[in-house]
Amino acid sequence: MKKILVTGGTGFIGSHTVVELQQVGFEVIVVDNLSNSSIDVLDNITRITGIRPTFEEFDLSDRKKTAEFFSRNKNIDGIIHFAAFKAVGESMEKPVEYYQNNVVSLLNILENMKENGIRDLVFSSSCTVYGQPDELPVTEKAPIKQAWSPYGNTKQMCEEILRFSTVSLPIRSIALRYFNPIGAHESALIGELPLGVPNNLVPFITQTAIGLRKTLNVFGNDYDTPDGTAIRDYIHVVDIAKAHVIAIQRMIGEKGKSKLEIFNLGTGNGTSVLEVIHSFERVSGEKLNYSIVPRRPGDVEKVWADTRFANEELGWKAELSLDEMMASAWKWEKALAPRK
Ligand code: UD1
Repeated sequence: MKKILVTGGTGFIGSHTVVELQQVGFEVIVVDNLSNSSIDVLDNITRITGIRPTFEEFDLSDRKKTAEFFSRNKNIDGIIHFAAFKAVGESMEKPVEYYQNNVVSLLNILENMKENGIRDLVFSSSCTVYGQPDELPVTEKAPIKQAWSPYGNTKQMCEEILRFSTVSLPIRSIALRYFNPIGAHESALIGELPLGVPNNLVPFITQTAIGLRKTLNVFGNDYDTPDGTAIRDYIHVVDIAKAHVIAIQRMIGEKGKSKLEIFNLGTGNGTSVLEVIHSFERVSGEKLNYSIVPRRPGDVEKVWADTRFANEELGWKAELSLDEMMASAWKWEKALAPRK
């Protein structure tokens, strides 16, 4: 049985990926510092799959602890690296912490891959590396634009680090550029757990509908889009998780075409903020309280993925619809309610 290290495995995308890995027969070891997730996630993963992943709590930006971990765990076959800070706004307030956490943890992992003969790494990247693309849908060949936030810049820097490291070291990597991951596992046992006031659209919608927030602010209706609200490519987190399984299998099975491969993970559909709200209202039967407010600084107008390369070369395609994403997000919010 192949053993995969999942860093950030108690987080939103990490936890869903642990489930998908276990369900196809991988053994999983999770490392997380629990800075933005809860240890209870491990119980819920176990409820879904019947298998409790091995867990170690420490910070991967700690060079000594990371080296010690790898010297204790000599039989790791591949790594999926999610552990990172991910809030755009917060990164403007705490740039040094973002670089320290996101960049140094990748360096520590690479150093130990080299030392321990671990070859395969899947890296969490983001469509934020494209900024506002000149052409839509955006392909993986689109130019990388100057970052709008330290968060986005850490993703660009990490991709560059991988580009050069994979050239000369016995390391291969697949960087997956996520568009907007939303939704939750159909069991409603795992999902997104934003601490405090959510920054992202979908948790804000479900928290408003359940009564935790008064009104959703829609940031701008004067964009150059059909209904004036900004457009994104929302994708179900379970589809994202499945892409990670395929990526690690691709490397283990020697199917990669180059030492660093980069794929967009999106549906290929652009959806406006108002369309997301309408989908939510349709599947939940709830009327959402929202009002239009000015644009949020730093937001791009529209972005959605060209998915052809991921579909054809990776052999992966997003399957779940927007309504399924919103229904699962709502089921998750309702499952959380008694615990609040
Ligand atoms: C951003 C980042 C993305 C990152 C993600 C996770 C960019 C371009 N994208 O996505 O890389 O992975 O955060 O944190 O930097 N909206 C509202 N009201 C709200 C919240 C959001 O109208 O209360 C709108 C936003 O203006 C945007 C859309 O909903 O048009 C989606 O916003 P959000 O969920 O925050 O994701 P992004 O900003 O697209």
